[in-house]
Amino acid sequence: MAKERIGILGAAFDPFHQGHLQMARAALDSGRVDRLLVIPSADEAYKPCIAGREDRWKMAVTGCTQDDRLIPSRLEIDRPGPAYTVDTLLALKREYPKAELFCLLGADGAMKLRGWRRLPEVLRLCSFLVCPRVGKISPGDFHRELADLTALGGRFLMLTMEPLTVSSSGIRDQLSAGGSVQGLSYPLREFIALKGLYGTAPRMARAGEWIEKLFAALNPRRFAHSLSVAAYSRHLARLYGVDPRQAEEAGLLHDCAKCLPMKDMRRIAAAHSLTDDPTVLESNALLHSLVGAQVARDEYGMEDPAVLEAIAYHNTGRAGMSRLAMCVCLADSIEPTRPGYPLLDQVRVLSELSLERALLLSLEGTSAYVRQRGKYLHPRTQETIDWLKSLPETRSAGK
Ligand SMILES: [Fe+2]
Ligand SMILES: [Fe+2]
Repeated sequence: MAKERIGILGAAFDPFHQGHLQMARAALDSGRVDRLLVIPSADEAYKPCIAGREDRWKMAVTGCTQDDRLIPSRLEIDRPGPAYTVDTLLALKREYPKAELFCLLGADGAMKLRGWRRLPEVLRLCSFLVCPRVGKISPGDFHRELADLTALGGRFLMLTMEPLTVSSSGIRDQLSAGGSVQGLSYPLREFIALKGLYGTAPRMARAGEWIEKLFAALNPRRFAHSLSVAAYSRHLARLYGVDPRQAEEAGLLHDCAKCLPMKDMRRIAAAHSLTDDPTVLESNALLHSLVGAQVARDEYGMEDPAVLEAIAYHNTGRAGMSRLAMCVCLADSIEPTRPGYPLLDQVRVLSELSLERALLLSLEGTSAYVRQRGKYLHPRTQETIDWLKSLPETRSAGK
C-alpha cells in the first residue's frame, strides 16, 4: 500500500488569510499530499504574535471551514513550553510512523530555513512544498539557497500556483489603518471586527464572552455561518434603516441552540412552554430557533425583546415580524458562505433593492423546496408569505 502523505501548514495565523487557503489548496490539488494539517504555532516559538493563541486557534478553525480537506490541529498550541517544527515533525512521526511528511512554505520562508532549530533533522524528517511569492526575494538568491539546502539533504518541490500576494502583516496594517481589507474570509473579517483585534475598535461589548460560548457550543461550520449572519444582518440593517447593533447581535446568536441534542432542546422547550406542536418538537430545523431565543436569554444574557424575536423566528418568519427580524431571517438565507440553492442569486440581488420582496422570494423558495420533497412546511412560513404579499412594498412590485 502507498504511504500516506500528510501536508503540514504551520504558521502563526495572526490572522489566517486567503493566502494560507491558497497554499493549502495548491498542495492538495497538486496530488502531492492526501490530507493537510493546519497547525497554529505556540506563542513562544515564533515571532511575537498580536492575537492570543486561542483567538489564533479559532481563526484557523474558522478558516479551515472553507475546505473539508483542511484539518486544524492543536499539536503546537497545546504543547507546554516552546514548540519548534522539529518537535512537531517528531510527534507526527510517532503518531503516523508510516506517513511521509510535507511542510508547506512560502518562498520567503524557505530563505529563512537555515535559522530553524536542528535543521539537519528537519531536512531528514520532511520534504518541502514551496509556494511562489511576489517581490520579497531575488530569484537568483532563492535558487542558490535551495541548491545549497538540497546539497544538505533537503527535498524541495515548487507548487504550481499564482504567487502569493497576501500576508498576515499586510492585513494587520490594512486593519489598523481602517481601510478596506483584502485577503480575509467574510466570517474572519467579522471575528476580527467583533473582538476588536489588530487595532480595530471592538464593535460589541460582550463579543469575547459570546464568541467563546458559541465556539464551544457549535460545530466549526455553524460557528463560521453565525459570524457571517452577524455581518450580513448588520449590512442589511444599515441598508434598511434598522439598528445595526441589534441586527448584528441577533445574527451572531441566531443559531446558538442549533447543535444541542434534540433531547436537550425538548427539555428547554417543555420547561418554558415554548411550543406543544408535535411536529416542531420533532424537528431540529423548526425547534432550534424557539429554543435559541430562550438560550440567548438564559445563557448569553440577551434581554432585548426585539433581538429575541429575531432569533425565535429566523427560520419560519412571522406575520407582522419587525424589520429587524426580517434582516436576520434574510441574512440567514443569503450570507456569503451559504451553499448555493436555486433562487440564491436572485434573492441576493433583490436583497439590495427591497427587504420585503427579497424575504418573500426567499421564503417562497423554501416553501417550493419543502413541498417538492414532500416535507412539512410550518404554517407560520405560509402565514409570513401571505402577510408579505399583502404589504405595499411587494404589491407594488413589477408596476
Ligand atoms: Fe437556524
Ligand atoms: Fe442559520
